[in-house]
Amino acid sequence: MSLTEKFPRVELSHKPTPLERLDNVSAEFETNVWIKRDDCTGLALGGNKSRQLEYYLGQALEQGADTLLTTGAVQSNHVRMTVAAARKTGLEVEVQLEHRVDRKQREYHHSGNPYLVRLMGAKIHYYPEGEDEAGADRALEARADELARLGRKAYVIPLSNAHTPYGAFGYVDAAEELLRQLEERQISPTRFIVPTGSASTHTGFLLGMRAHGCAAPVHGVCVRRNAEAQHGRVRAKLDAVIEALGLDLIVSDDDILCDDSVLAPGYGLPSEAVVEAIKYLARREGILLDPTYSGKTFAALLALLRAGGYRPQDHFVILHTGGSVSLFAYPELVEED
Ligand SMILES: Cc1ncc(COP(=O)(O)O)c(C=O)c1O
Repeated sequence: MSLTEKFPRVELSHKPTPLERLDNVSAEFETNVWIKRDDCTGLALGGNKSRQLEYYLGQALEQGADTLLTTGAVQSNHVRMTVAAARKTGLEVEVQLEHRVDRKQREYHHSGNPYLVRLMGAKIHYYPEGEDEAGADRALEARADELARLGRKAYVIPLSNAHTPYGAFGYVDAAEELLRQLEERQISPTRFIVPTGSASTHTGFLLGMRAHGCAAPVHGVCVRRNAEAQHGRVRAKLDAVIEALGLDLIVSDDDILCDDSVLAPGYGLPSEAVVEAIKYLARREGILLDPTYSGKTFAALLALLRAGGYRPQDHFVILHTGGSVSLFAYPELVEED
């Protein structure tokens, strides 16, 4: 039985997502490297957010909402997929784009995710700050109040950690799904590698693994804030999810692994190593990553493999959370002929 079964959920994702062996990468490093393709969840080009949105939409529909409100960076995949989820379920949708990444290029503001948000017809608001989660959430609440005065009922999908993290439930489910796939292939995982931003993915995944008795390290790759701050965020979210699910489970602080070695120069800004990792996987396997999330996650895995010290019978499993839509916002990543 799934741990999340008693919560309302709306089906939004193609599942199970494939688990694929990266044969060329595995051959190069003489070990086994697997990729869980959560970039293939299907919702308006897919990504990890559709599993999370299944639970937010479950709440929204149960409460009789007619409009979704959410916030994120200009190139937010979460915002794109929230708009798609609203369209699929017949809800109105308004999004708030935050000034979080200092990029002036036209492509950053008009291509990739914001292009698709406009295509799907969401109303867009702008928020001048990028590091003010509580303020961004308050602005959404203020808009929800305005809509209420007009007789509408909005459901806010918040950004800050001060709310019940329904999104993390989607990654408890993903961990269960992945464990079944590993079992079918008789694979005992050595290490999982996942991105950690809002921390819903990392938290749900770690909790799902531990609740089902899998003790392999879950290596969280920081994409938004440094390891210390991210550790605190995952801790708080874990405690909230354990409580919401009514679990009798202890996950120790030492079990929360946050690696910020590929975060610089900052959120939404890829280093040389990240650009190299994106090109490496594109050219070895034909798999597309992104500069903000999955490219950083794969760069951390690549560094780990290049450092050596593992065995041929090991199995590394990276979670591909999507985001390649935003490649079009970073045209400078490839040289023109
Ligand atoms: C493609 C992609 N990967 C990873 C993440 C990080 O996931 P989480 O916010 O659950 O930590 C995001 C979040 O926006 C994302 O869009």
